[in-house]
Amino acid sequence: MERRQPIRVLFVCLGNICRSPLGEGIFKELVRQWGLSDQFEVDSAGTAGYHIGEAPHPGSRKVAKRRGLSIDDQRARQFARRDLDDFDYIIAMDASNRRDIEKMGSGKAQVFLMRDFDPEREAGAAADVPDPWGMGDAAYEETYAIIERSCRELLQHLIEKHQLRSR
Ligand code: 4NP
Repeated sequence: MERRQPIRVLFVCLGNICRSPLGEGIFKELVRQWGLSDQFEVDSAGTAGYHIGEAPHPGSRKVAKRRGLSIDDQRARQFARRDLDDFDYIIAMDASNRRDIEKMGSGKAQVFLMRDFDPEREAGAAADVPDPWGMGDAAYEETYAIIERSCRELLQHLIEKHQLRSR
């Protein structure tokens, strides 16, 4: 079968230390569990440059580790204009992240909100993944739960859309 280009998915939040590193880590792990690792490239970035080069926030690392997932090796980077052409899907954690992305222009990438894929989001409810920065462990638990269930749905969507099979 013809080998197609990997599908490139970028998770974006403000700082790239709390929410989007969880998106990257969880989505990569789901892709691995489905045997689809060679069909995806997954990354994350922040619209702001406050934390460039830093590891994810201890709150995110801790909540991930409790589920057997290490995101410790990730390093924050800032979202750049070229990401709009380098990626197929950009998944913004909240509406303000999406606005900041769209202010930079448009490109090949389709831009979505993470909670566009949240199966538990009620009609009319907030579309944002709340920012846990500066909050306690419970906020990170909630963030993890929202991102995990949304990533499962996102992957299902992409498997169907691109007719992917594990190999
Ligand atoms: P994140 O959380 O966007 O989920 O990584 C934040 C991290 C840092 C800041 C804001 C939000 N900050 O202002 O430094």
